[in-house]
Amino acid sequence: MATTIVPVQFTEPELKLLQTLVYQECGMFFDERRAHFLQDRLQRRLKACQIDSFYNYYQLLTSREGKHEIAALLENLTVNETSFFRNRPQLDLFQKKVLEELLHRKQERRDWTLKVWSAGCSTGQEPYTMAVMVCDALAYYYLRNPLPFEMPTPKPLIPPPWKVEILASDISYSVLRAAQEGIYPESHMEPVDYPCRLRYFERVGDRYAVKKALKELVHFDFHNLKTEYLPQRNDVIFCRNVMIYFDEAEQKRLIEKFYRGLNPDGYLLVGHAESLLGLTSRFRMIHENNGTAYQRIEVPS
Ligand SMILES: C[S@@+](CC[C@H](N)C(=O)[O-])C[C@H]1O[C@@H](n2cnc3c(N)ncnc32)[C@H](O)[C@@H]1O
Repeated sequence: MATTIVPVQFTEPELKLLQTLVYQECGMFFDERRAHFLQDRLQRRLKACQIDSFYNYYQLLTSREGKHEIAALLENLTVNETSFFRNRPQLDLFQKKVLEELLHRKQERRDWTLKVWSAGCSTGQEPYTMAVMVCDALAYYYLRNPLPFEMPTPKPLIPPPWKVEILASDISYSVLRAAQEGIYPESHMEPVDYPCRLRYFERVGDRYAVKKALKELVHFDFHNLKTEYLPQRNDVIFCRNVMIYFDEAEQKRLIEKFYRGLNPDGYLLVGHAESLLGLTSRFRMIHENNGTAYQRIEVPS
């Protein structure tokens, strides 16, 4: 006879303990509205670990061997929804204003590096979108302002001497693996128009794979945004639809870390439902045609 597994019901103080632990580990804050979700995901982990009490599970999480389980729990708690070319008005602003200004400013200084960081990149659609947009922006920029160097043939995606790095990071190893693979079903490709598909993707069976040349521009890495040490010297940081899961104190801390992680006059782009309003005075808002970006304000020394 099959045995029925009765899911463990957590008491309010037990949920509070786990809520605090998750907050301390990654900054995600589960208030009463999201307590159900937390409860459901915890039950899944208990089942996977074949543990039948809160006490035993908490002991595992806080033990020396518990690091793996904490990572597995966090993987289960993250929301990984994403898409190519998400929030078009903001991306238009990124391409037409932010990149245009950066390319112009950098070329004047003979600084041929560009670093864009997708913080909380999920399954990779965001950083690959960034890579496509940077390649197109560079091509369009040099159509109008010929480079003072000989262009090799066939034309590379990134005209020398430019060096472009798109860094993409997440707290979830499983989404990072999918992102690194860079192969997407037709259903994910709807926002990608045909010229873009032709230029940057190839068909693999019934799916689309990111072409090698574009893939080489993107570097994937694990970074927990809760930690102090985060990537530095970025020209642009995209952190979209991540802070929405943090509480105000954690959002403020993260924005401060992003400020330090940006080059002077660098840009921060957050999600459609997110804003820096009331959280910092160290960025100025740029808002055009429904797109928003924030630029680092430099304090005269
Ligand atoms: C909703 S997705 C957003 C993906 C993409 N930025 C976009 O807007 O389409 C949020 C991502 O943030 C990641 N995330 C959540 N907390 C994080 C943390 N503390 N450190 C790094 N990544 C985190 C999740 O794993 C998830 O992949």
